[in-house]
Amino acid sequence: MNLVKRCIYGISILSLASMNVQCKGEKKTDAAETALETNATDAVSIAKTMYGKTDKGVQIDRYTLKNQKGMEVDIITYGGIISSLKVPNKAGKSEEVVLGFNSLEQYMKPNPYFGALIGRYGNRIAKGKFTLDGKQYSLAINNTPNALHGGPEGFHRVVWTAEEAKGGDTASLKLKYVAKDMEEGYPGNLTVFVTYTLNKDNALDVLYEATTDKKTIVNLTQHSYFNLSADFSKPILDHEIMIDADKLVPVAATLIPTGQLTDVTNTPFDFRKPKLVGAAIESKDEQLKNGLGYDHCWVLNNQNKGERLVASAYHATSGRVLEVYTDQPGIQFYSGNFLDGTLPMRNGGTYAHRTGFCLETQHYPDSPNQKDFPTTVLSPGENYKTKTTFKFSVK
Ligand code: GLA
Repeated sequence: MNLVKRCIYGISILSLASMNVQCKGEKKTDAAETALETNATDAVSIAKTMYGKTDKGVQIDRYTLKNQKGMEVDIITYGGIISSLKVPNKAGKSEEVVLGFNSLEQYMKPNPYFGALIGRYGNRIAKGKFTLDGKQYSLAINNTPNALHGGPEGFHRVVWTAEEAKGGDTASLKLKYVAKDMEEGYPGNLTVFVTYTLNKDNALDVLYEATTDKKTIVNLTQHSYFNLSADFSKPILDHEIMIDADKLVPVAATLIPTGQLTDVTNTPFDFRKPKLVGAAIESKDEQLKNGLGYDHCWVLNNQNKGERLVASAYHATSGRVLEVYTDQPGIQFYSGNFLDGTLPMRNGGTYAHRTGFCLETQHYPDSPNQKDFPTTVLSPGENYKTKTTFKFSVK
C-alpha cells in the first residue's frame, strides 16, 4: 500500500502515453548531433549538442529544452544534471536561476550535487547500514558518520543514456540508467528512467520510474539549487518560502531523524504561510543549530492526494515564483548552508554561503531504519513511479 501511496499512476501513465504517441509520429533527422525536427510553430523545442568528454573518454551530451515563453533548460547526460535553467522576471527578462558550472570538468570535481539526479537513496542513511529480509547491507560512509545521496558515485556521477521526444506543446528527455546489483552497496539490478518534460507554460516535470530484480530501497530526487534573483552573489534569505506541512522530521546533530515527527507551530519551521528564509534562520533553536540553518525534511500535508502543490518560493524584486508539485510524502528544504565560497560561479566569483536553496521532493531521510516512516522498499514486480513539477511564473 505504501508503494501505491507514493505513485500517481493516472497522471504518469497519461503523460507517458502521450510521449509514446509523440515518439511514433516523430521523424528524426539524420545527423546524430542535431535536434528533432523543430517547426517554427512548435511551442517547445529540444536540441542536442556535445558537452564534453569524461576522463574515461565517454561523450557527454547536453540537451536544451526551450519554449516560447522564455524558459530554457539545459540537461547533461552526466548525472542527469540540470546545468542551466532560465526563466523570465516580471519585466520579461529571461535569466539563469540555478547554480551551476560552465564546464564538465567542474561538474566532475567534488561538488554538492549541483542540479543532479540523486539515487539510489536520497539523503542520509544512519551509519550507512540497513537491513532487508534479515540481511544487513553496508554502504560507503561519505558524510561521516552516515551514507548520503546514494554513495560517492550514486546516480549523480554516472552517465545516463538519453532519448528525446517532442510534441507540439511539450518536449521531453527520457534518461535511463541501470544500477547493478550491489552497486554502491545496494541490492538488486535497478533500472531507472527519469523523464524531464518542459511544457509551453513554464513547467518542468520530472517523472521518476524504476524497477528491480531483487528487493531494494529507492528514494530518488532532484538536487537543483535555485536563486530566483538571478544574482548569485546574493544570499537567498530574501526569498519567501511556503511549505504545506504541519510537521517536521527533526534530526539529531548528525542530521539523522530522531524518529519523531514534530509540530511546526510556533517554530522557525512553520512555512504554512509564506515567510522570508531570513526571517527566523538565525533564531536560537536546537533544530536550526543541528541543520546549520534549514536542512530538514518536512512532512507534507495531504499525502493521499497525489500530485499537489507542496511548496513555493517567491522573490519580490524579480517577481519570480517557483511552485513545486509532487506526489511524494516529504520535501527537504536546504538553505545552502554548506556553500562556503570555494566553488566557481559561471562568470567569475564563487558561490558564497546560502546563495542557493534546494527543494528536494522525497521520502524521509533514513526511512529504511525508521519503522514508523512510509516505506522506501521496492520489490520485484513493483513499479516505482513518482512525479514532481517545478512551475515558474511571475507576480
Ligand atoms: C542535502 C543534504 C544537505 C547537504 C546537501 C549537499 O540537501 O540534506 O545536508 O548534504 O544535500 O551539500
